[in-house]
Amino acid sequence: MDNSAPKKRVLLIDDEARVRTSLKMVLEPSYDISQAADAQEGLEVFRKEGPDLVLLDVILPGTDGLAVLQTLRSESKMTPVIMLTGTKSVKTAVDAMKLGAADYLSKPFDVEELRIVVDRALNSLELEREVKQLRAQVVQRYAFHNLIGKSQGMQEIYAKIEQVSDSRTTVLVTGESGTGKELVAKALHYNSSRRERPFVALNCAALPETLIESELFGHEKGSFTDATARRVGQFELANTGTLFLDEIGDLSPVTQAKLLRVFQEREFTRIGGVQSIKVDVRIVAATNQNLDELVRKGQFREDLYYRINVIALYLPPLRERGEDIALLAKHFLAKRVEEERRPHIEFGKDALELLTRYPWPGNVRELENIVEQAFIWSQNAAQITPEHLPTILKSDSRSSSLRDDTLAGRMSLEKAVMEFEREIILDALKRTNYVQTHAANLLGISRRMLKYRMDTLGIGRPDNAASQEPEPAVQE
Ligand SMILES: Nc1ncnc2c1ncn2[C@@H]1O[C@H](COP(=O)(O)OP(=O)(O)OP(=O)(O)O)[C@@H](O)[C@H]1O
Ligand SMILES: [Mg+2]
Repeated sequence: MDNSAPKKRVLLIDDEARVRTSLKMVLEPSYDISQAADAQEGLEVFRKEGPDLVLLDVILPGTDGLAVLQTLRSESKMTPVIMLTGTKSVKTAVDAMKLGAADYLSKPFDVEELRIVVDRALNSLELEREVKQLRAQVVQRYAFHNLIGKSQGMQEIYAKIEQVSDSRTTVLVTGESGTGKELVAKALHYNSSRRERPFVALNCAALPETLIESELFGHEKGSFTDATARRVGQFELANTGTLFLDEIGDLSPVTQAKLLRVFQEREFTRIGGVQSIKVDVRIVAATNQNLDELVRKGQFREDLYYRINVIALYLPPLRERGEDIALLAKHFLAKRVEEERRPHIEFGKDALELLTRYPWPGNVRELENIVEQAFIWSQNAAQITPEHLPTILKSDSRSSSLRDDTLAGRMSLEKAVMEFEREIILDALKRTNYVQTHAANLLGISRRMLKYRMDTLGIGRPDNAASQEPEPAVQE
């Protein structure tokens, strides 16, 4: 042990003086010991001294040790608590572990075992602190509020948020589902001078049209059948703060018109009310739909669109920022490890590679879910390996094996490209029942070109393929 480091502090909570004395004798040379004879005194010392570790008797006069354990855990998740149990109380020991005890010792204890258990709990605490510190570093370098990412795409988003957060300008956040639009809205708010003011989020898609207006603007008592009391709307609630309008593409034309008025005049009236209410609200809107297209189709008001789309923040899909995948995966894993106080676990190389190759149609949300599953499947393993990952990540491995073969020098690039092309063409032919014109359309090339490539790659037509080609069949 490093002699220059200050001794760790251990608190003993046990009503039997004899037990405390013997524990103290064993631990004294390596640790600073404090003692308490009952729960109340124990909690007092705990709060005053902030020990590095607690040894806690399960049976204390007048209190249940497990209740004390819960209090200790709720006050400091980081401090390991080792329970002292009678020999026969296995069930209690199990309960204690479930409640977050780091370990348990049954009385009378073996001196060597006592030392080992205490050392181990303190070491894992060290490790946990290290992980926390490392995470804090990662977070400082590669994060902005709760957004994580080191890719160019994310760095640009951080810079834009930085630039626009302090103005009242409306921001439109777009991007595929699960790319982090809501997090961006929050980052805009918490990075602005409005951060102490309310952040109010309203999902425009989640509410029926009849309710959304009253939700937005509020209503006066008796303004419609269900309006039994006056109700303040989200615009008023968000006053001086930020209103996040999620899924804005789903608003009905009527509500769009009303919203336009608020944008123009910064004031509105409650349903059934007469008085105009002025508000100072910063609006952040989000959608995963293509608003441009909705405008073209006449489903979204053009004038409202221009009011909303003053500053646009587009979140690129996760597959276009591959370097963020491993970073995010590690972040989500570390978060779960911390929450569950599980021993250290990390991604194995193969698992990380699978994660990096998958196209993530559900983006960051999907990644978070898959890390959660892997965390559960891995149980107490030290590493997450491909077997802990869902098969969907392992399926489309043909292109990756071609890639591996090429990079390992087992196959030339030319051959790999040809193999890859052959598979895509065969796939297209199968999907179109070997109707070459259709396959060529699918692939975006002319039928002549398809035929030429088929010849070059030696792709023939199987005997059992459909016979009806809408134009002269090409003979092999
Ligand atoms: N850059 C990121 N760093 C950390 N966590 C992220 C990041 N992006 C997304 N997440 C997490 O992924 C999940 C989905 O994010 P969010 O709800 O913001 O996405 P969204 O774009 O609003 O999705 P949807 O369009 O489906 O509403 C959340 O749990 C969020 O915390
Ligand atoms: Mg969302």
